[in-house]
Amino acid sequence: MSLILVVALGSIGAIAGEQAMLKEAFKSDFLIGAAVNKAQIYEEDADTAGLIKTQFNSISPENVLKWGVVHPKADTYDFEAADRYVAFGGKYHMFIVGHTLVWEHQTPAWVFQDEKGNPADRETLLKRMQDHIHTVVGRYKGRINSWDVVNEALNDDGSLRQSPWMKIIGEDYIAKAFQFAHEADPQAELYYNDYSLENEAKLKGALELLRKLQTQGVPITGVGLQGHYQLDFPSEEQVDAAITAFGKLGLKVMITEFDVDVLPRALQYRGADVTLSAELQPKLNPYTQGLPDAVQQALAQRYAGLFGVFLKHRGVLARVTFWGVTDGGSWLNNWPVRGRTNYPLLFDRSGQPKPAFDAVIRAAHSNSPQ
Ligand code: GLA
Repeated sequence: MSLILVVALGSIGAIAGEQAMLKEAFKSDFLIGAAVNKAQIYEEDADTAGLIKTQFNSISPENVLKWGVVHPKADTYDFEAADRYVAFGGKYHMFIVGHTLVWEHQTPAWVFQDEKGNPADRETLLKRMQDHIHTVVGRYKGRINSWDVVNEALNDDGSLRQSPWMKIIGEDYIAKAFQFAHEADPQAELYYNDYSLENEAKLKGALELLRKLQTQGVPITGVGLQGHYQLDFPSEEQVDAAITAFGKLGLKVMITEFDVDVLPRALQYRGADVTLSAELQPKLNPYTQGLPDAVQQALAQRYAGLFGVFLKHRGVLARVTFWGVTDGGSWLNNWPVRGRTNYPLLFDRSGQPKPAFDAVIRAAHSNSPQ
């Protein structure tokens, strides 16, 4: 067999039976990440842990670094799972993401209260935020490469959310969070992370917020578009326009929580507000016996189209992270309706690559730089 033929066969290894690898396919474009859960971090779920180390070169913690897990009580930090997470990433030479420092959810009530259960005052909450960030970021200095410093500070209309952070500290809680993180690890990349940033009003609000932070000299590296998408929303043009707009501010852009919901919409709402929920009804859960081929193909096309947009922005877009690894582990089986069977990722419930996986690999090859 000639050398050229061998090389050609190698590049279509996926077809020849050898598994293609996402991280290889996009190695000259951007990092490819996955959010990981405890069973994967502890390598108890050996099959999925295997997929993570062969397919991905970055990890994000689904839950183990959220405030409620690492700092459940005022005088108690619990780093057991977080230490294992960072060790897992180190062992497999991955780009390690910290998620997340300042968010209103998955943060215990004591954080925002005084000893009587009334709202804490500004100084107390700022001090708590500073201690938390210095302790957590400081512990992993030089090992966690990038932090989602502030998560979901904006409403859908682009105004600042009246979260307890905002109500008690005021608007400068965002700048302070970045400042504390930078003090704790001056080398770490620092991000603002949110969903629905492709929508006009929220995009406008985010651009204003980020521009303001930049003008104030706040140490911010970039913005994470969560990327909780649906088959028909947002449009590729919207995603393209959002990445372009953030890139123009000189910010790096990441897709941080990518998945594509294929189920019927349970709510009019199109965002990813974790507090929303709806009742389970059979018509909202149509694919319990498997995904029909037509939907499987629509998902593959959707993924190929979105990756086409991402590839166009290589350089500005530095990472694409999926929120989960296999369909079975996705949060979208339980949000906004508990107990559905969803198919939002590239690997099926038994860890096998789906047609969407092949479509993404093909998108990498057909868009590779000359
Ligand atoms: C938001 C958060 C994530 C995660 C998802 C749902 O997008 O940023 O940490 O909780 O919701 O799982």
